[in-house]
Amino acid sequence: MKRSPEELIDQIDVRALPRHVAVIMDGNGRWARKRGLPRVAGHRAGTKAVREVVEGCAELHISALTLYAFSVENWKRPRTEVSTLMSLLKEYLAKELETLCRNNIRLQTIGRTDELDMTVQQELARTIEDTRNNTGMVLTLALNYGGRAEIIDAVNRILANGRKDSVQPMTEQEFAKYLYTSELPDPDLLIRTSGELRISNFLLWQIAYAELFVTDTLWPDFDKRCLYEALIAYQKRERRYGGIEPQLVRSR
Ligand code: IPE
Ligand code: IPE
Ligand code: MG
Repeated sequence: MKRSPEELIDQIDVRALPRHVAVIMDGNGRWARKRGLPRVAGHRAGTKAVREVVEGCAELHISALTLYAFSVENWKRPRTEVSTLMSLLKEYLAKELETLCRNNIRLQTIGRTDELDMTVQQELARTIEDTRNNTGMVLTLALNYGGRAEIIDAVNRILANGRKDSVQPMTEQEFAKYLYTSELPDPDLLIRTSGELRISNFLLWQIAYAELFVTDTLWPDFDKRCLYEALIAYQKRERRYGGIEPQLVRSR
């Protein structure tokens, strides 16, 4: 029997939440196909799930949520599908500004957003500016994002700028400062919907020790209840970081 969101939320230990949740939002096309609808109908339905997860994480005071919205590989899709995704993004930003502000959420992006359509860039810049002073959750949209592209962009920035202290060997901490995610903690929990057991070039560096949660639920069907289930599963994990001490997810 399906448990209600209230029953599930009671099982979550609010002192042991992940600081950063990352989500590979997958399965919009399959959701539409199951209903005999065009793929773009799945993308439209997927925006409702975005709203659920953003609000659900903000309500729990999770510090950071990162959503994989468009990969560098997604340009391979038909032009009409790409343009619908971009239109939906603009629509989402315009519609959700009020909700973002009401929940004290600050928006930012990662990825090569300078390659996106100018109108998308403008809408993003406006929402980033309008949420700049919000002090709650940081919502990061990964747009035209690739994990390998991010690492290469970091290397090229290092090569272009030189390093102040170049006699010292590079450390992991220093390298991470050149990544798009320099201001974010590494994800503790990575959720992927619709059952695919792969990373699809998402946050390759940052997920070194993330807990993975894959659900068969298709993205448009993902709701707060599914989010709570993922968080409950996360809280049962033992994070060992290569050590031998089995530790439950620690209370902060
Ligand atoms: C995820 O759903 C949305 C994006 C990648 C933008 P898909 O469009 O990949 O859906 P499936 O995987 O084909 O079902
Ligand atoms: C990953 O989904 C990218 C996003 C969710 C934006 P894909 O549907 O593009 O991934 P693959 O092709 O199944 O690996
Ligand atoms: Mg997919």
